[in-house]
Amino acid sequence: MIRIAIDGPGGAGKSSVAKAVSRKLGIIYVDTGALYRNIGLFMLDKGIDPKDASRVIPALEELSIELKFENGKQVILLNGRDRGDDIRTPEASMAASAVSAIPEVRNFLLDVQRNTAKKNSVVMDGRDIGTVILPNAEVKIFLTASAQTRAYRRYKELVARGEDVTLKQVYDDMVERDKNDSTRSVAPCVQAGDAVLLDNSKLTEEQTVDRILKIVKKKTKDTTPLYSFLKVIVAPIYRLLFNVHVQGKENIPSTGGVLLCPNHIAAVDVISVGVVSPRQITCIAKKELFAIPVLGGLIKALGAVKIDRGGADVGAIKTAIKAIEGGKTVVIFPQGHRCPGFNIASTPVRHGAGLIAYQAHCAIIPVCINVKNGKYGLFRRTDVIFGEPVMYNFTDGGRDEYEAATREVFDRIVEMGTKFKSLPDYDPALDKRMNKKRKKK
Ligand code: DC
Repeated sequence: MIRIAIDGPGGAGKSSVAKAVSRKLGIIYVDTGALYRNIGLFMLDKGIDPKDASRVIPALEELSIELKFENGKQVILLNGRDRGDDIRTPEASMAASAVSAIPEVRNFLLDVQRNTAKKNSVVMDGRDIGTVILPNAEVKIFLTASAQTRAYRRYKELVARGEDVTLKQVYDDMVERDKNDSTRSVAPCVQAGDAVLLDNSKLTEEQTVDRILKIVKKKTKDTTPLYSFLKVIVAPIYRLLFNVHVQGKENIPSTGGVLLCPNHIAAVDVISVGVVSPRQITCIAKKELFAIPVLGGLIKALGAVKIDRGGADVGAIKTAIKAIEGGKTVVIFPQGHRCPGFNIASTPVRHGAGLIAYQAHCAIIPVCINVKNGKYGLFRRTDVIFGEPVMYNFTDGGRDEYEAATREVFDRIVEMGTKFKSLPDYDPALDKRMNKKRKKK
């Protein structure tokens, strides 16, 4: 998941820029100003002065607000009613600014904003997104422009909508709103300490969007120098030696946390996936792997997470969830241990993958690895296929659900694998022997 917070004063172009960024990244856009505008308009309709906290606060009791998305477009229902463009008039703007200075109004809108960002990757714009609503957002931008530029842009917008306004009026309103928004005692519109300041007075909308996409790319870049070295020097040699072929790379989204679930043939599977993955992977490997000379050191240096094969290793699962929430590409082998053949219905799968996807609200990408006769060998062909991302609709999040999800991912892997004629069957006797061998160790 990725959360992009775009804050800044009115007229900086936040909403059109945020919309374009969300479209480019394929995630939803949340316009939080519209929430305040709805409340401001509600007060005006009721004949309540939006500045009068003593009347606004009790009126909140009569309000229910719902924020939903229809075909990716935000819809706000205030007491079940969508007010559409009525919230965009200069009166509604002033009323929104006034009610937004009342702490109870801000509290009233806190959960609806946070819950949306908990369930979805978002581009959210407002005044306090980076400072209050999403202090842990992966990317924070403070977008601004000179007051003159902002007033002129807003003026053009209003005139295009048929409003009867003068530039001077819009400028004066803007200066007053800026003052209200940035000097109020609660959640003033200020730049978060870790936000990137972007002044777009001299930039077009397209240029602003490009700048933001570059910032997002840089901030979510998950490649370490060691990884880059391995990718450039070691990966081509490995691909050549093990004749690695890849399909479905486009199924891995370019940003945001995601879980890759391959079948597990041998310890080197993680390298087979790593050398062809377009993004750096973070693998969850059983602790025994860390003890293998060279391979253990490598996966450790690359940021692998240790897991205790014996059972649910809560620490490792939590670390994986955190990594995904931080936008990383995490690899977990649903089988939990190596199992050369995977053309099976009975391979035991663990519930870790489903549990991680449930907790991190991320998609799972099934990955099919095939080597001839289930055994890696020099110049023996290795195929890695990334399947389409699957997003599960968990309901109660119980163990049965996680296991069913992991099982289904595994079924998809098996389905992808049916194209390989040489696919070895699951051999329970071999599995038993391998387990015994492992236990002895
Ligand atoms: O972004 P906008 O112009 O639609 O916002 C309308 C008003 O709502 C603005 O004057 C300040 C307020 N607002 C806020 O205080 N916090 C937000 N996160 C978003 C908007």
